[in-house]
Amino acid sequence: VSGKRFRVLIADDVSPECMALFEGDDRFEVIQDKLRGEALLKAIGGFDGLIVRSGCKVTAEVLAQATRLRAVVRAGVGVDNIDTAEATRRGILVMNTPAGNTISTAEHAMTLLLATARSIPRADRSVRAGTWKKPGFLGVELRGKVLGVIGLGKVGREVARRAKGFEMEILGFDPMVNDDFARQLGVKLAELDEIFAKADFITVHVPLTPKTKGLIDAEVMNRLKPGVRLINCARGGVIDQAALIEALKDGRVAAAALDVYESEPLAADHPLTGLDNIVLTPHLGASTQEAQENVGIMSGRQIKAYLLQGEIENSINTVSLDAQEVARIEPYVKLMHSIGGLQAQLLDGKLQRIRVLFAGAEFADGGARRRKALVLSALEGFFRHYLNAPVNRVSVMHFAKEHGIDIDEAKSTDSGGFENLVTLEVETDAGRRIVSGALFGANRPRIVMIDGYTMDAVPEGIALLFRNDDRPGMLGIVGQVLGQAGVNIANVSMGRDMSGGTALAFMNIDSEPNAVLRAALEALEGVPWLRIATL
Ligand code: 3PG
Repeated sequence: VSGKRFRVLIADDVSPECMALFEGDDRFEVIQDKLRGEALLKAIGGFDGLIVRSGCKVTAEVLAQATRLRAVVRAGVGVDNIDTAEATRRGILVMNTPAGNTISTAEHAMTLLLATARSIPRADRSVRAGTWKKPGFLGVELRGKVLGVIGLGKVGREVARRAKGFEMEILGFDPMVNDDFARQLGVKLAELDEIFAKADFITVHVPLTPKTKGLIDAEVMNRLKPGVRLINCARGGVIDQAALIEALKDGRVAAAALDVYESEPLAADHPLTGLDNIVLTPHLGASTQEAQENVGIMSGRQIKAYLLQGEIENSINTVSLDAQEVARIEPYVKLMHSIGGLQAQLLDGKLQRIRVLFAGAEFADGGARRRKALVLSALEGFFRHYLNAPVNRVSVMHFAKEHGIDIDEAKSTDSGGFENLVTLEVETDAGRRIVSGALFGANRPRIVMIDGYTMDAVPEGIALLFRNDDRPGMLGIVGQVLGQAGVNIANVSMGRDMSGGTALAFMNIDSEPNAVLRAALEALEGVPWLRIATL
């Protein structure tokens, strides 16, 4: 193999189908090892990619040691075990595999729902203990009961669909879902208060956020329909554990089932384990052959595609782009990166605002992801010159925001006669500089305008830019000074505002001028402005 090998660590029980994707591919070295604590801190610096489930905690401390790491994939949905903000700051891509375990989790919710309705685990324990006491196990039917589904995302929807099959009446809460969509699902949308008051069963399907933490807490427990049954196979803490224990003890909540906990693993002597009217499973929602195969394969594919081709799928902290789109916009990505770099090196004054303008069919409606990727590329090219932190398309937006710089993107109808045109406007307290670029042919990037001067400059290598009085011989004078210093000119492109006015030249030169040559160029009469940029 030419080039380096990518090293990937699989740090949880991810299905063997994931590992199998790398077998025989000598571009990769993959190690599966549930490293934790010191061992993880010591080893992580040697990996380009990391695949985890919920077991491995990818903390800021771990990421600080992950000097080579480019991507983390969560083989599953929840990324609460990954410090995504820190990964973003470090330019590490975080992805998940959201579609892979939806059905398994929804089926687990149904399993728990039925288990609480008919006290299945307790009945099982009683038979094993040699008792045969039917009266203690009088259950309830699901038919005709009200099920509150809090969160109608992928899993919540599947739960609602399945519960319809049991002839339950479904009340759903999700601020992102509209009435039409809910109606198609057979769900009646309701406010939380209505669900709390009316539901016989409540199942939660929301991520853990500051808003959803303790969504059902001690105060809400008092407002629930007496005898309600509660299910949580989403994230621990959405139903407050301490409040749940109290409500289960005094019967306000008839039964509950938890698959997830405020702290995992749940300690064997935790007060929850002493209660008889609760079903406890060890975070098994996604633990089926099918789900694990799905998420294992997806995570392996995603990390491979990113490390090899820069293809991004299911990104948590940047824009996702598939292989086709990556290939399609590659020349523009390079062009934008160069324009960003050029703008940074021409900057005068204090940076205030960066604006990216797109014109042409390539960037019209439907091209939102492509535009976003190009904005990130321009910013990456720009901020590379100012920050010594790792700047890439994952981290750059964070840096821009942190520095209080307004970034904005717009579509324009004026493509200046080109098929597609990209423009980067940079505004400082000293004024605004505008640089536009286009592709000549399929993939020859050119800078076609700088501050109103048209040109067709090659955005490559070392560029000498200068403004000069538009009079005969000026280019010759500059050429002579360069020639005397042994600096060769590769390309020249010029634009002028009007005959006899001012011209702007963009010269590609083969070597970087030293300080003496630079001073000589800057001292030339009739050359009021001169810059050197490396693209
Ligand atoms: C998820 O977020 O995908 C589920 O909670 C599954 O977690 P697991 O992969 O640790 O089983």
